[in-house]
Amino acid sequence: MKNIGIIGSGTMGTGIAQVASAAGCNVFLFDVNEQQTTKSLDGLGQTLNRLAQKQKITPEKAQEILGNIKNCTRLSELKDCELVIEAIVENKEIKQKVFAELEQYVSPECIIGSNTSSISITSLSAELQNPERFIGIHFFNPAPLMPLVEIIPGLLTKSPLAQEMYGLMKSWGKSPVIAKDIPGFIVNRIARPYYGEALRIVEEQMATPEQVDDAMRTLGNFRMGPFELMDLIGIDVNYSVTTTVYKDYFYDPKYKPSLLQQRMSEAKLHGRKTGKGFYDYSEGSTAPVAEKDDELYQYIFNRILAMLINEAVEAKRLKIASDEDLEMAMQKGVNYPKGLLAWGAEIGYGKISGILNALYLDYQEERYRQSPLLKKL
Ligand SMILES: NC(=O)c1ccc[n+]([C@@H]2O[C@H](COP(=O)([O-])OP(=O)(O)OC[C@H]3O[C@@H](n4cnc5c(N)ncnc54)[C@H](O)[C@@H]3O)[C@@H](O)[C@H]2O)c1
Repeated sequence: MKNIGIIGSGTMGTGIAQVASAAGCNVFLFDVNEQQTTKSLDGLGQTLNRLAQKQKITPEKAQEILGNIKNCTRLSELKDCELVIEAIVENKEIKQKVFAELEQYVSPECIIGSNTSSISITSLSAELQNPERFIGIHFFNPAPLMPLVEIIPGLLTKSPLAQEMYGLMKSWGKSPVIAKDIPGFIVNRIARPYYGEALRIVEEQMATPEQVDDAMRTLGNFRMGPFELMDLIGIDVNYSVTTTVYKDYFYDPKYKPSLLQQRMSEAKLHGRKTGKGFYDYSEGSTAPVAEKDDELYQYIFNRILAMLINEAVEAKRLKIASDEDLEMAMQKGVNYPKGLLAWGAEIGYGKISGILNALYLDYQEERYRQSPLLKKL
């Protein structure tokens, strides 16, 4: 596949355009907001120049990557594309409207992919004239740096397409995994407790955000603690994924959102991008220092990790993806230091089950129920 269309030139669209172009494709980048594409391509040019100065790529390659991306001002300019990946605003109706228009221009063979984080692929495809050509192709942020791509066939996707996209992503230098079309797919489902339990611990005033972050970094070797990570992702974005996953699992208490996060989102304390979230990023501010407490840190780490491992075991039981893919996804999509199944085996599933039992007894909540597979491992 040589001609690739990208719709949406925001954070993800620009990153995906860079990946496809670096792999030697001709990229046709379209956004409703023309200025956005110009701004994105200017930004990309600066990034590529910096990479060339640091000798990470040659100046010729930098030129080539930028030169392969065409700034399109009309959607119809994507008519000769063999694959179009949509990365516009996370709104089902708007996405469906764009797909309906796109189908008027592209050939019947053109494959249409969506980078959606949380909308059902099947539901997006259902409104297409030809739903068989539709598939989820989910990159992680920043797309040029994070190797993982989740390939998600919907119920109506024709069967060889997932394998075809898997091969294509490999040829683009990515680490693809094939996932089922369930809310959150692999990573955004399994990772929910990393944020959810952390928020609960702080909401219940057991610890401060900096203590939770410090505990997860020092005891778990996580690159970022939950709160600094939420500040980076954007508290509004993280909250919206949580509420979508919760609703789409028919209000399963496991995924219940946090009031604290809702209030932060309402207050537009979105994290780094607004200058303030759980931490203050304004000029002159200093990061709070966590008060170390060995017993508390162990409790925080055990609780969050046990919940994550339980989610991974449940994903294995439901065969959301193969064991290898489940393990790889968490390491290459969100930089977890180990695969969660291997981590569970290392700690001992009996111990994980004990931690969850204690939480269940404390709270008397379905949220802490164990995967039926956990006790059999
Ligand atoms: N940001 C992330 O970390 C991340 C990670 C994985 C997936 N995603 C998903 O990728 C998609 C894009 O996210 P983003 O963070 O790049 O958003 P963004 O806000 O940075 O960019 C979205 C772009 O889409 C454009 N747009 C909106 N409506 C359009 C339309 N009708 N036609 C053409 N362009 C339109 C906007 O002008 C904007 O430039 C979403 O579905 C999101 O859930 C985001």
